[in-house]
Amino acid sequence: MSDLGSFVAGLPKAELHLHIEGSLEPEMMVALARRNRVAIPFASVEEVRAAYRFTDLQSFLDIYYAGADVLRTAEDFHDLAAAYFDRAAADGVTHAEIFFDPQTHTHRGIAFATVMDGLLAAVDGARAKHGMSVYLIMSYLRHLDEEDAFATLAMAEPWLDRLVGVGLDSSEVGNPPAKFARVFAASRERGLKLCCHAGEEGPPAYVHEALDLLHVDRIDHGNRSMEDAGLVARLARSAMTLTVCPLSNVALRNVDRLEDHPIDRMLAAGLRATIHSDDPAYFGGYIAENFRAVAEARGLGREQLVTLARNSFLGSFLPDDQVAAQLTRLDAYAERT
Ligand code: HPA
Ligand code: ZN
Repeated sequence: MSDLGSFVAGLPKAELHLHIEGSLEPEMMVALARRNRVAIPFASVEEVRAAYRFTDLQSFLDIYYAGADVLRTAEDFHDLAAAYFDRAAADGVTHAEIFFDPQTHTHRGIAFATVMDGLLAAVDGARAKHGMSVYLIMSYLRHLDEEDAFATLAMAEPWLDRLVGVGLDSSEVGNPPAKFARVFAASRERGLKLCCHAGEEGPPAYVHEALDLLHVDRIDHGNRSMEDAGLVARLARSAMTLTVCPLSNVALRNVDRLEDHPIDRMLAAGLRATIHSDDPAYFGGYIAENFRAVAEARGLGREQLVTLARNSFLGSFLPDDQVAAQLTRLDAYAERT
């Protein structure tokens, strides 16, 4: 491994933007299709991979939702998440806050309990095997209506103590944060933290809405905030975390090339930006590869990489004492490496 590669892999970091359904590797998709006798429109792993050429967010989502159809049993959700935690541990992830999309499954007749049983078994396994802390964030699908999100919140009621927060994902343009203001308020009342994908494809106005109407704790992506100087100043002033996903941004054509990625300009503008993996099975790399590739493309130095890792813990939903412990470990690594 290169110097940069090994420094990044050993750098303690938190994963804050990972859709567990987006960690479904083609090999597992084909294996689960066979195990569950589900027909998929691909004859081989190579054919699955060849389909991963996206022109925008929607072209990805169409394939991502189709792929998720192979997930049927609690064992499937366990195996999916356990494989992800193994990869994350190898990438230096010491704490993970992962999204899952309940409606993608409940709409196919898979019980909310099936999803939770499988994921929670894997979460407990990650702590035992890797010493990794894991929080779950259930994401509402924004192309569906708010009533459906409320129904999902009702289904989650028995598991509220195992969920740290809610998110908002899927097709952004035309589905602004305002559409979900009431269900976000209800989620907050139940003690859940609030995240929202905003400014990935949608305009800076959607980021303002996520702040003003949803009162979010974190913005996922947020890249297009850079088009609005007033918004950048506001995000910087409030130390709002932006969970940026460089390989996703290239795969979904939000930036043309990694060499054009704004990550260092975001840091220079005072934003609390962090680096994450989004849907790594689809976008060509997990968190360490996102760090490494963008560092190489933008010439980031160690200091910037440590700042990004620091921001990942500061932006996490860990209690203060655990954030402090993670930062102590990070500082020790930076000093001795
Ligand atoms: N954007 C919006 N919705 C998503 C994404 C994303 O990058 N990945 C999975 N669902
Ligand atoms: Zn995402």
